[in-house]
Amino acid sequence: DTPVYILSIESSCDDTAAAVLQNAKVLSNVVARQDVHEQYGGVVPELASRAHQQNIVPVVDVALIKAGITREQLSAVAFTQGPGLMGSLLVGSSFAKSLALALNVPLVAVNHMQAHILAHFIDEDGFDKPEFPFLAMTISGGHTQIVRVNSFFDMEVIGETTDDAVGEAYDKSAKILGLPYPGGPLVDKYAQLGNPKAYAFTKPKVPGLDFSFSGLKTQILYFVQKNVAENPDFIAQNMNDICASIQHTIINILMDKLKLAVAETGIKQVAIGGGVSANSGIRSTLKEAEKKYGWKTFIPKFEYTTDNAAMIGIVGYHKYLEHTFSDASVTSKARIQL
Ligand code: KG4
Ligand code: ZN
Repeated sequence: DTPVYILSIESSCDDTAAAVLQNAKVLSNVVARQDVHEQYGGVVPELASRAHQQNIVPVVDVALIKAGITREQLSAVAFTQGPGLMGSLLVGSSFAKSLALALNVPLVAVNHMQAHILAHFIDEDGFDKPEFPFLAMTISGGHTQIVRVNSFFDMEVIGETTDDAVGEAYDKSAKILGLPYPGGPLVDKYAQLGNPKAYAFTKPKVPGLDFSFSGLKTQILYFVQKNVAENPDFIAQNMNDICASIQHTIINILMDKLKLAVAETGIKQVAIGGGVSANSGIRSTLKEAEKKYGWKTFIPKFEYTTDNAAMIGIVGYHKYLEHTFSDASVTSKARIQL
């Protein structure tokens, strides 16, 4: 069989990424992170699209060179259609369209949130692939969902956030603590050194499988303001314990809903995906759940947690096998459903 080579491009937010896959195997996976946003405490859309413009050609070149593949060998070009920032998405889609036209190969449009889930189907030594149906919890800066995955392209959202995403809860908490954007990884780092039971935050009461994180953010804000009023050095003196307590609360919220989802669906295969699945606490708690509840869990390799193009490539590969192609009139979408 002749191998399928997919070039994939991801530009939905502030990372410019390209990857090359040979069938389900990743030959290269390149990400150019944009540091410009750090000083603004969040992603500035206008600056993100400009940086994508600057980065996209070199990032794609490096991905091809690292893979040892020429443009002429490519079977198809895949790109993120959405959801994401419109100006960022347009850079990736315009580039992908032009390249597919120039090379006369099919163009494949990929849903970013499907990609976070289907990243588990990348061939990696030591990583099992889930069997259908399985549950996937997508936890990122923009999304918090529990999805019943019936097959590659048949997914049902069975629970989601009613306000902030869990990544936002991390980033906003970090901001309250004076940490730079994106603060999630820093909260995680300090949390590992602190006492998770040092401070108690209450969990929101949300029915069913839905989530809410905006109340937690407000609670943390008032908690910090009150304590800083009494002791101006409160944050610096207790950073590890504060972060550990926040992380403990967030993990409890996520685990409560996952347990309920397993109980309601009877499905015990549980996968996570998205930037927050890089979190050390979530990863270890989920591993423990294998022994505790008899689940089989799927935790992505670290480089496939935060935004990357390899996950776009694996979806591209499966759509290529099904001949699900797009024509040049395909448009970027800031919002799309699973
Ligand atoms: O999937 P992603 O790269 O982009 C979106 O599609 O949103 O997710 C980024 C989010 C950010 O909110 C970031 O703070 C969070 O993932 N994140 C983490 C960790 N690493 C990244 N949150 C908690 N712990 C981490 N280790
Ligand atoms: Zn993402």
